[in-house]
This record gives sequence, C-alpha cells and structure tokens, in this order.
Amino acid sequence: MTSDTSWPSLHDYLSAVQQPARSLGGGKLAEFVPERQPDGAVMPVQGQSAYVFYGWIDGEPAVLRCFSRPPAPSLRERYERLARYVAEVGCPSFARFTWWDDAVVVAGRRVPVLTMEDVGGRSLRQHLEEVRGDEARLERLAAGWQALTGDLAARRLAHGDLQQDNIMIGRDGRLRLVDLDAVWAPPLADLPPNESGHPNFQHPQRASGRCWGEDVDRFSALVVLLSIRALIHDPGLWDEYHLDENLVLTAADFADHSRLVWFRLHSSRDAQVRDLTTRLQQISSAAFAAVSPLSAPAGPPSPPALPATPVPKPVPKSAPAKPVSKPAPAKPVSKPVSKPVSKPGPKSVPKRVEPKPAVSPTSTSGPASAVLVVALIVIVVLIVAIL
Ligand SMILES: Nc1ncnc2c1ncn2[C@@H]1O[C@H](COP(=O)(O)OP(=O)(O)O)[C@@H](O)[C@H]1O
Ligand SMILES: [Mg+2]
Repeated sequence: MTSDTSWPSLHDYLSAVQQPARSLGGGKLAEFVPERQPDGAVMPVQGQSAYVFYGWIDGEPAVLRCFSRPPAPSLRERYERLARYVAEVGCPSFARFTWWDDAVVVAGRRVPVLTMEDVGGRSLRQHLEEVRGDEARLERLAAGWQALTGDLAARRLAHGDLQQDNIMIGRDGRLRLVDLDAVWAPPLADLPPNESGHPNFQHPQRASGRCWGEDVDRFSALVVLLSIRALIHDPGLWDEYHLDENLVLTAADFADHSRLVWFRLHSSRDAQVRDLTTRLQQISSAAFAAVSPLSAPAGPPSPPALPATPVPKPVPKSAPAKPVSKPAPAKPVSKPVSKPVSKPGPKSVPKRVEPKPAVSPTSTSGPASAVLVVALIVIVVLIVAIL
C-alpha cells in the first residue's frame, strides 16, 4: 500500500455503504445491504489494510472489503490471476471473492473494492478464547488445521499470511481463510505481494529477506499447530502467553530460545508437543532458505532443505492434488476485472541461500555428557569413601 491523503476514510466508506444505490458501483454491488446493530449503526471490522463491512448481496451473506490505503498496483492483477487459478483447481478453504473496479464512489473519487463470501463464524483468536479448555474441540481443531494446510499444499497454494485473524472457523465448524492479499499460486509467482505476514507467525527472516513462494506457509502452519496442540495439554498457556497479537509465541520467542515459554513447551506431558517445539526451534534458527527452499529469494545455491514439512498428515480424500474441473467460481460482477493492468514480469526462479545449521535445543553434546557422568561417579565414590 502507498500513502495517499485523498484516499477515502472510514467515515467516507460508512457514508457510501449507507446509500449503496448511489455510491456502490452498479449491478449486484448496488444491492449490498449492510448489517446493522440494534441501534441502526453499521459496524465495520478494521484490519491492517481494510475495513470490512458485513451484509448481504442477493440475499447471500457477503462482506465488502474496502481498502484503508491505496492497494498496491499489482493487487488487482493478483486477484484476477488467483480467481482463474482457484476456478481451475478449487480451494474450499479460501473465501470466494470478486474484485470490482471503480466500485465505490467516495469523496468524489472511485476506488476498487473486494466483495467476499461472508464465511461466518469467528476468527481463530476468538475461537481459542472459548475452546481453550475443551480438549475434544481442540483436538478437532488441530486435525482440521492439518487437513487444511495439507489441502492447500496439494493444490499448490500458499496463503502467505496465516495468523489468528485470517483463519476463521465457520458456523459449520469448517476452517476457512480470509485476507488473500499475500497468496502464492503458480500463476502469481512473478507478482510478489508487498507484505510479509504477521511477524508473530513468520520465520524471523521472512520480512527482511522478502521471502515468498510455494512453501512460504510452512513456518506459520507449524506455529498454529503447535499452539493448538500445546493448549490441549496446558490451557493456562493462553492466559499467560497470549498477549493479543499472537497465539502463545511471538517474534521475540522465535529469535530467543532461552525465553520461558520454550521451557514450558518442552516440559509438556505430550510427546507430540515436545517434538513440535523442537521442530519449531530448529526451523526458527535455520535459514529461511532451508525451511522453505521454494520461497527463498534469489541468492547463491544452498545445501539440501531441512527434511519433512511440519504437517506430515496425508491430504484427505476431499482434497485432490489434481485440478478439479468444476470449480466454485466467484459470482458474476457488473464491472468485473477483465484484462491484466500490468505486464507480468519474468517468471521467478526460486533460488536458495546458504542455511545456518539447525539448532536442537534438547540435544547436548556426547563428550560433554560423558565427562559429566564420570565426574558424578567420582563424587559419589568419594562421598561413600568418606562416610
Ligand atoms: N470473507 C470474510 N468473511 C468473514 N469475515 C471476514 C471476511 N474477510 C474479513 N473478515 C473479517 O475482517 C477482518 C479484517 O479483514 P482482513 O481481510 O483480514 O483485513 P486486513 O487485510 O486489513 O487484515 C478479518 O480478521 C475477519 O475477522
Ligand atoms: Mg487480515
């Protein structure tokens, strides 16, 4: 996003939404009916880069995602290519969307807007607040999360900004993803987004290295999985470590493995939590290129990637790896995106950079342990001799 002082404010959008026939493009968009509070007020949700208005289009629950700053010039093209790709391969977890050009008339100018299916329910942040003490629901959530991340990978899609406010639990309990601004898909590979995900969910080198690609979700998927699984066995983690903009770990924890939360996770009574903790520490110390080799920026070739993805469960039957012929297309629009607005650049070729050695927090060196054991034996023998 770029700065633009004449860009519509929240107040401008609120006025527009109150009079859709006059201010909201044409066709179906003009039929947007905003959801109102009992006192008649319209209450949008504010994210990092958008105001989201809930309502209905054609009787269907929908949201109007209005940009709070001018979107990057490539965003329209990214959504257009993504729409085509999703129409081809399907993606049940992504909220359906439609990009509208010049759709909102506010303060004398026309700006684009994104309409999306309202996936309903609530965010992962809100959901965990309620279910953190419920072992069975957390188990289901963890299984659903593994299925979702496996499904995305099978369809060659990466969300790019997996975090607690972009992961929604629909009314039917299904996990869904919103905020698709940073998605990676094969046709988008030469159009990187201008954002790098929430630092409390991303590898420490993600932002500085401009890392983004097919396996960019590996780190954040593991952060979410470990957080859910850890809460199953230690619900108190939420009150102590969920500060606001994180689940139980933060960017500071990824950078410093001596912080208390790691000891707490390592001492979990559950072996899987301990394994996932070790794994997350390993990949947060390793170079981004070793964790997500397909998402590393251009650089010198690197040694082989770290083995195994953090979510090794098989993809469920409902998520075929092959493209499906009949997709769930976005609804027709009155002013649909038609032609690319910018010429695509050259196809990006993922390159690798030299990874740092992975650090295992639980392992101690063999010789050091042997010296310690011998020293202990000598002390015990001396004490026995003295007595
Ligand atoms: N399609 C959707 N259905 C339901 N809620 C949504 C949808 N899209 C966004 N939201 C809600 O609005 C919030 C902000 O939207 P988001 O697209 O994430 O904006 P930003 O890019 O500014 O973070 C989300 O965290 C979510 O709670
Ligand atoms: Mg968001």
